[in-house]
Amino acid sequence: MPQLIIEGGPTLDVAAGTKLTLAIEDAGIPILHRCGGNSRCTTCRVLIVAGDAGPMPEIERERLAREAELEPGIRLSCQVRVESDLTIRVLQTTTSTGMPAGSRPAD
Ligand code: FES
Repeated sequence: MPQLIIEGGPTLDVAAGTKLTLAIEDAGIPILHRCGGNSRCTTCRVLIVAGDAGPMPEIERERLAREAELEPGIRLSCQVRVESDLTIRVLQTTTSTGMPAGSRPAD
């Protein structure tokens, strides 16, 4: 079972194939996912600190290409399936932004 290390948060074992946004939220981190996991809002973005987040789907690549200011290593957590050990940094939460989370992405 892959291990997910959330900087400043818990370390947990995650069932392989779990959508990263859901693993983060279910760990008690109030991550934003304003578009409901449809690769439109980018509020679910995370920094991949270590590990392999897997191939980037075209829909994610196209959306991130429109965000010129983003540092390398940023992924949209709604497009990542946890398949191996990862260390991540959550960048936007309900508490850091004051925004509601948005609809929960589908499994
Ligand atoms: S891009 Fe909107 S939830 Fe991931």
